[in-house]
Amino acid sequence: MSEIRAVVITVSDACSVGERQDASGAALVQLLTDAGAEVVDRKILSDDLDPLVQLLKECADRDDVNLVVTTGGTGLGQRDNTPEATQQIIEREAPGIAEAIRAESLKATPMAMLSRGVCGVRSGTLIVNLPGSPKAVKESFAVIAPVLPHALDLLAGKTSHGSHG
Ligand code: MTE
Repeated sequence: MSEIRAVVITVSDACSVGERQDASGAALVQLLTDAGAEVVDRKILSDDLDPLVQLLKECADRDDVNLVVTTGGTGLGQRDNTPEATQQIIEREAPGIAEAIRAESLKATPMAMLSRGVCGVRSGTLIVNLPGSPKAVKESFAVIAPVLPHALDLLAGKTSHGSHG
């Protein structure tokens, strides 16, 4: 089974200037670690589009990374650019992951429909957008955690199908 080697990116104007603590990024690091992943890097940046595009590209292209998880910037606010940045850099979309996150999250809150998060693949790395609150991160991560190992195996070229429940 492929090891999970992840980068966590918090996208938030307030966190990037230290106005707010990065609770979502911290929650994500904890969840990933608990799931057996190695968090190889953690970044915080503003909602500006171009630096985010650049960072997503750099992280996805790293040889030691197979998962990039973002938190924040997926809503309808004028400065919410994370889905657009992700769309710009992915080679292939993985819409089922984003659909599942929204569908399951709707059971917790109708606000889930406001997240425009995108999931896709670049350079053998899976990129997943999560909303920007610790609660949303926890609820969303619970949806994707069971499929992450198989998803990353497929990206690594390990295509045999075992029993995946
Ligand atoms: N998804 C889950 N599971 N739980 C939540 O509390 N909050 C929603 C939504 N998705 C939420 C959620 C809210 S209030 C918003 S505005 C959108 O995500 C977008 O959040 P973002 O702009 O912080 O990315």
